[in-house]
Amino acid sequence: MYLDANATTPIAEEVWQAMMPWLKENFHNPSSSSGGGKKARQAMEHARSQVASLLGAREEEIIFTSGGTEALNTAIRSLDKLCGEGDFLTSAVEHSAVLRSGEQLSRAMVRCGVNQAGEVQWDAYEAACERAAFVSIMAANNETGVVMDWARAATLAHQRGLPFLCDAVQAIGKIPISLANSAVDFMAISAHKFHGPKGIGALFARRGCRFQPLLFGGGQENGLRSGTENVAGIVGMGVAAELAQATMAAEGNYLLASLRDAFEQRVMNQLQGVIRNGAAGERLPNTSHLSFDGCEGAGLIILLDDKNVNCSTGSACMAGKQKPSHVQLAMGISEAQAKSSLRFSFSRFNTLEEVSKAATLVVQAVEKLRSVQGHGVGPVVVYTP
Ligand SMILES: Cc1ncc(COP(=O)(O)O)c(C=O)c1O
Repeated sequence: MYLDANATTPIAEEVWQAMMPWLKENFHNPSSSSGGGKKARQAMEHARSQVASLLGAREEEIIFTSGGTEALNTAIRSLDKLCGEGDFLTSAVEHSAVLRSGEQLSRAMVRCGVNQAGEVQWDAYEAACERAAFVSIMAANNETGVVMDWARAATLAHQRGLPFLCDAVQAIGKIPISLANSAVDFMAISAHKFHGPKGIGALFARRGCRFQPLLFGGGQENGLRSGTENVAGIVGMGVAAELAQATMAAEGNYLLASLRDAFEQRVMNQLQGVIRNGAAGERLPNTSHLSFDGCEGAGLIILLDDKNVNCSTGSACMAGKQKPSHVQLAMGISEAQAKSSLRFSFSRFNTLEEVSKAATLVVQAVEKLRSVQGHGVGPVVVYTP
């Protein structure tokens, strides 16, 4: 039972089928002038139109990258080079691809606080904008699934003339995102979060926005991202984007939300002392972040893994020491509660039957752990991407 879709999703069959020929028969370099090269170029351009359509963007605004991390690092480095004095303003709950990248800059990085629901504190945000040079706020949080009002954050930044980057890696394909009338200048996405392959993503860079590449070389992607393109990955991402758009158009959030709600209802009906983190505001329809009073998340993971239920802890554990996540601490969640959290994240490949069974196994694991509490469930090493 794979309930860890925010870490990565299984590849869709259609995506796999579309990619295969570009890994074997059609292996040509898309920059080559041969017939095969031309075909590869055409396939990439078709994928670019599929990705642009998902985002409500123009084709020339899509730059293919090796994933979300590269897209975010590229945009942050570019903004740092091109913007004048001022802080890099972001939030305290961003993914490490933003926070670690921001730490490399010579300018100050200001992490705007969030409230208990995990949403940006708007007064603090507006005040911090006054001293900022550029801004990056995520569309949805990878741990809690909290959806940020990224459109509002972008508008407030633009009102002060600040360029705005949005990390939409977790939001895309789960909630509708349209860049057509938004104030977002740059947006990062990653295929493996919406049933595409790993190692491929894209940076949306709005037409007319100043931009400097991170990678220089052969001048691919219109000179904006050098390096021979991952044609199979790009084709796969295009198909995944089209499927995501079609699925959202057909059923909206209904399927994902019904899986999550059924799971939560079962768990909460049978257990006392369960808290749904981030549930006070808008959440991604696929994410359930639960704290289980009196249980170590790391111990629960072991018990659940044993029953073939895959999920994540909400905290990183290193060298035997479990560290509460920066996201939960920023939301004012206590260390103990943070360490007792698990993230369950669903995809359209999960079934109601599966999540109901998983809920029963979670209830049993929590009851077991509560009953043996203090009898030495050892530390483990778990990574929550
Ligand atoms: C919110 C968020 N941003 C960025 C990334 C990095 O994306 P990638 O794995 O494609 O480098 C992730 C991956 O987990 C993520 O959840």
